[in-house]
Amino acid sequence: MTLLEIFPSLRSGMPSPRVDTSVWPCETHYDDLGRITVGGVALADIADQYGTPAYVLDETEVRRRCQAYRKHFPDAEIIYAAKALMTKSVARWISQEGLSVDVCSAGELAIALAADVDPQRIVLHGTGKPFCELEAAVAAGVGRIVIDSLTEVTLLAALATKPQQVLLRLSPDIDVHGHPAVRTGVTDQKFGLPLGSAQADEAIARIMRHPNLKLVGLHCHLGSQIHEADFYGEAVRRMVAEMARIRRDYDVTLTELDLGGGHAVAYRCGDAEMNLAELADIVDDSLDAACALNHFPRPHIAMEPGRAIVAHAGVTLYRVMAVKHIEGGRTYVIVDGGMNDNPRVALYGARYDAVVANRHPTGPHMTATVAGRYCEAGDILAADVSLPADLRPGEVLAIPCTGAYHHSLASSYNGVGRPPIVAVHEGRCHEVLRRETPADLLSRDLG
Ligand code: LLP
Repeated sequence: MTLLEIFPSLRSGMPSPRVDTSVWPCETHYDDLGRITVGGVALADIADQYGTPAYVLDETEVRRRCQAYRKHFPDAEIIYAAKALMTKSVARWISQEGLSVDVCSAGELAIALAADVDPQRIVLHGTGKPFCELEAAVAAGVGRIVIDSLTEVTLLAALATKPQQVLLRLSPDIDVHGHPAVRTGVTDQKFGLPLGSAQADEAIARIMRHPNLKLVGLHCHLGSQIHEADFYGEAVRRMVAEMARIRRDYDVTLTELDLGGGHAVAYRCGDAEMNLAELADIVDDSLDAACALNHFPRPHIAMEPGRAIVAHAGVTLYRVMAVKHIEGGRTYVIVDGGMNDNPRVALYGARYDAVVANRHPTGPHMTATVAGRYCEAGDILAADVSLPADLRPGEVLAIPCTGAYHHSLASSYNGVGRPPIVAVHEGRCHEVLRRETPADLLSRDLG
């Protein structure tokens, strides 16, 4: 036994080995009782006060990530992809840090507007945007709309009674080799139109013909969890070449190039992450080269990170409900959440770490699988993780890196409402989104 294990209080104020900052928010420490604190608040206290499961969101970490983007890309527009996590508080924090917002539905648009985001700094995305959502976006005066299909050109042509800036989403045929569900840069997928295709050409021609549709640039989004910056360099080369071709054919110089999001974060210690300094260098160099080669003026770059802004700011808390040692099988730690609040394991085979948050684990460890409460065998949160062998029902487990695509993908399967989001900041916490209750579920049921 080490001294630190005998006197856990020695760790007070120190980042602990249980909580690696490549996965946890920077402001993660232990308190005198050996409990994990985030943003100066003990996770066990949050579990007691707001119940479990609960999403904890560290405001400082969200702001820190925004600032990192502003620092590495001082000349680019950083557009937060709201699909990762959207609440009024998040929209406020990221706008205060100088980011724009990408929304992909009338719901996300409504939240951005309710948070007083400047409509000019809102970009509307989405494949298959319903007419009424395009109408709401045009009426709100959103800065740009990213056109995804020929039909959208027709719908927008009918709606735009005053000038509306638009981008065209193209797939540049770049394969980032991710999970098929999140590989969007290849030609054979549903988003945008293939670069160089007859349909893309037709869309450009139709937009150009419309007096109120102002094509200002091109957009591409290569996929998710990309840690090799070179893919973005290749996207720059292909997209700038296309912008030069458009100038030759239509005598119009597009000034914006939106490279989408998809920057990887580490979900567990040792996972590869996107290095922003390297990405900035590669984008810069490839822009220089591509613009020189095509004699094209440097376009204004935009990027749309979602996950890289909020993932590490989030930690989900669960209460242990039961520990089952299956003879000849695994040990299952059953918790009071699961696939409703984190469907990413079932959807993409994502892997997470889980740790006990309410005490310092001093004794031996066991290998266990953290499973959820829902009526599906695939409702697993973390397979084969190391947990204290004496873990008991009632203890609090925390799963880090759950700020992105957790609440936004959550469901109310089995009639269990979505968890609250509790924001922490400089030693204080407050609920920014309350728990969904049976009364909420009933309020939609018209009988
Ligand atoms: N821009 C566009 C047009 C997008 O479609 C997306 C994500 C982003 C930006 C932001 O990508 P990010 O930087 O967050 O990777 N549910 C999946 C992720 C789906 C991403 C869809 N589009 C997951 O949980 O991994």
